[in-house]
Amino acid sequence: MGITTGTTTVSISHGWYGKPVEAEEKLRIFRLDNDEITYAMAVTEEGYLLHAYYGARCGEDDLSYLLRVQESPFTPRILKREQASFMDGRAFEYPCHGIGDYRESCFMIMDEDGMSACDLRYRSHHIAAGKPALRQKGVSCIPATFAGEDEADTLVIVMEDAHAGLTVELSYTIFKNLNVITRSAKVVNHGEADVRLSRVLSACVDFEDCDYDMITLNGSWARERIMERAPLHHGKQSVDSARGESSHQSNPFVALVSHKADEETGEAYGFNFVYSGNFFAQAEVTQHKHTRFVMGINPYDFSWLLRTEEEFAAPEVVMVYSNEGLGKMSRTFHDLYRNHLIRGQWKDKKRPVLINNWEATYFQFDTDKLISIAKQASELGIEMLVMDDGWFGHRDSDNSSLGDWFVYEEKLKGGLPNLVSEVNKLGMKFGIWFEPEMVSPDSKLYEEHPEWAIQIIGRDLTQSREQYVLDYSNAEVRDYVYGMMRKILDASNIEYIKWDMNRQLTEVGSTFLPGKRQRELWHRYVLGVYDLMNRLTTDYPYILLENCSGGGARFDPAMLYFSPQIWTSDDTDAIERLKIQYGTSLCYPASAMGAHVSDCPNHTVGRTTPFATRGDVALVGTFGYELDVTKIPQADREAIPGQIAKFHRFNPLVRTGDQYRIGNLYADSSFDAWMFVAKDKSEALFTFVQVLARPNYPSRSIKLKGLDPKKTYEIEETGQRVSGRTLMNAGILVGTYGDFTSKTLYLKAVE
Ligand code: DGJ
Repeated sequence: MGITTGTTTVSISHGWYGKPVEAEEKLRIFRLDNDEITYAMAVTEEGYLLHAYYGARCGEDDLSYLLRVQESPFTPRILKREQASFMDGRAFEYPCHGIGDYRESCFMIMDEDGMSACDLRYRSHHIAAGKPALRQKGVSCIPATFAGEDEADTLVIVMEDAHAGLTVELSYTIFKNLNVITRSAKVVNHGEADVRLSRVLSACVDFEDCDYDMITLNGSWARERIMERAPLHHGKQSVDSARGESSHQSNPFVALVSHKADEETGEAYGFNFVYSGNFFAQAEVTQHKHTRFVMGINPYDFSWLLRTEEEFAAPEVVMVYSNEGLGKMSRTFHDLYRNHLIRGQWKDKKRPVLINNWEATYFQFDTDKLISIAKQASELGIEMLVMDDGWFGHRDSDNSSLGDWFVYEEKLKGGLPNLVSEVNKLGMKFGIWFEPEMVSPDSKLYEEHPEWAIQIIGRDLTQSREQYVLDYSNAEVRDYVYGMMRKILDASNIEYIKWDMNRQLTEVGSTFLPGKRQRELWHRYVLGVYDLMNRLTTDYPYILLENCSGGGARFDPAMLYFSPQIWTSDDTDAIERLKIQYGTSLCYPASAMGAHVSDCPNHTVGRTTPFATRGDVALVGTFGYELDVTKIPQADREAIPGQIAKFHRFNPLVRTGDQYRIGNLYADSSFDAWMFVAKDKSEALFTFVQVLARPNYPSRSIKLKGLDPKKTYEIEETGQRVSGRTLMNAGILVGTYGDFTSKTLYLKAVE
C-alpha cells in the first residue's frame, strides 16, 4: 500500500533484416497502490520514464513485463535499442518534443539558439506522506486538492534536461481511500541561459489500447456541459479553451470509458484539470493503436520566459479510475472535491435559501423594490436576498460602470448599509454581485486608467457585452479593485458574494508586462484572479462566495477551491437543467451546483413547467429563487414554504450523500430520474421527472440504486415496506400525469 520503488532486470530483444539484438536492462520501478488501484512506471537505464500500468489494483507482481520492451524497429542499430522506434512507440510518462516521439508531447522549449528539442531523463525522486501544496515562487496561490499525511502519499520524480539546464518535477499523489491520482509538473531553470517554455502540460497517460469512448462536456451559453460520447478513432480528438476561461463551450473534463461502460459497469478513466483558463485535453490513437491522453494548459498562444533559477508550476490534473462505470467515477470525484478541494466555513454547511433579483428585475430595481421582494421572501422562509448586477456606478443596463464599485445612490436611496440593515431586520442575510475582472468603457475607472484594460496598443479594442477585461497580471490593478470591494464589504453586513465574469479575452496584450512576457498574459491573468480570490476568501472567511461566469463558463475545480458553489447556468428552465445538471454531475458534486427556481415562461427558452418540478430540480443543488416573489401566481407563492421545508429536510442528504443517476435524457428523452443515498444507506431520496407524458402507460418500472440489499426501506409517500434487494432488482412503479411533472420519494431504512 502506498508508494513503492525497487529494481528489476528485463531482457529486451529486437532486430529486423538479420541484425537481432538481445540485451538485458535494469529498470527502476515505481508503484502507487491503494486498495483498488495501481499505477506503475519504470525508469530505463538511459533514464527514460516509461508508463507501465494504470487501472484496477494488481497483485504484488513485477509489472515490468507490461512495458513491452520487445521492439519492432524500422532500422536496427548496434545500440541496445533502436532509438527512434523506441521513442515513437513506447508509453511515456512525460513525453518531450523533438527527440523521436511524434505523438503529442507534454514538454517543449525554445532555447536561446532557437532550438526546440528537449530530452528529460530521470535524476532523482523522493516520497512524502500527504500532499505538498502546489507552489511557484512569486505566485500567491495555485488551486489544487489537499490531503493530510494519513490520507495520501506523494511521489516526486525529478527529470532533467542536462543540455538545457532544466529540471521537471513530476508529482504523483495517490489517495488512500479514493481511486484518485493527481498529477502536476514543475519546471526549474538551473542553467545560466534563459529558456522559453512553449508547452508544459500537466499529465500524460499512454494507454495500451484504443477501445474507449471519449466523453466530453460541451455546449454554449445557457447549455453548458452537455455530454457527448464517441468512440476513439485513429488520429487526434481534443477539447480545449483558448478564450481565457475554462468556458461555456468545453469543460476541462474528459473520460475515457470502455465501449459498453454504463452507470454501473465498465471501466472509466476520468480526467479533470484544476484550472480556470485556456486548457487542452486530447486523446490520440496512434499507429500501433495505443492511446495517448494528455491534459494541461493550452499550448496555443502560450509562451513563458524562464530565467535562471525561476520556476513554473503547471496546474494539477485529477485522475479518477472506476471499474464500476460512470456512477462510481462521479461519486469518487464528488467525494474528492467535497473533502479535498472545497475549503472554508461553508464547505460542509447547508447554504441559506436565497432569492436573487436578476431574473426578477434585471437592472430595473431600487431600494424599495428590493425591500418589497425581501419582505415577501422572508415571510415565506427565504433566508437571504442577493442583489445582482446594477447597484453601482450609474448602471442601468450592461453598457456602463463596471469597475466603479461604489453605490448608485439614485437607485439605492439611503445607501447600501441602510438597505442591508433593512434586509437584516427582516431576519435575512444580504448578498451582493461583483464582476471584479471587468471595466466598462463608460466608467470612472476606465477614464482614469485606460491602460489597465487588456489591450494591444494601437489596435482597436474589441468590446463584448460592452466591456473590457482588466489586466490582472498587474498587481496594482488587482489592489485597486480590491480596495473598492473592501470599502463596500466593510461598510455593511454582507454575507455572500456572487463573483461574475461575463466575457472572454481578446487582443491579449498588457501595457504592464514587457514584450518578452506578453504571451504569459493568458496564464498570468488566471493567476491574478486566483490571487484576488485568495485574498478575498482569507480576509472574509465568513462570506459565502459563489462563482459565476455568464452562467457556467467557469465551472471548474480551480474555482471550487475558492467557492463552495458555482452558478451552473443562466438556463433555469427545469427541463433544460436536466441535461445540464446531468453533465455537470459527471465530475462536480450537487453541493456545488447553483440551482434556482425561476418564474415561467422561462427567460431563456420560454417554457412553462409546474412550480413543483422547478423545485424538485433545484433541490439537486444549492437551492434558491430567482423571481419576483411579489408578482408570481398566488399558488406558486403558497408552495414556497413547502419547497423550503423540503430543501431543509433533504439538503443534508443531497449535499453529503452518494448520487446515483438512473435515467437521463441522452438515453431516453421522455424522463429523468436520480437518487441521493446516505453514506450509511439509512435513507435515500428518489426523484423522477417526466418530460413527456405517455398515453396508456400509467407508470414506469424503475430499478433503484445504491441501497443496502439487506435493509428494508419504508417509502414514506406510500407506506410500503420493501427490501433494498427488491427495490434494486425488481424496482418500483412510478407514474405522474402530464408533461414536465415530477415526483420525489423518500426511503427510510426501518430494519
Ligand atoms: C450573468 C449571470 O450568469 C447572471 O446570473 C447575472 O448575474 C448576469 N450575469 C448579470 O449581469
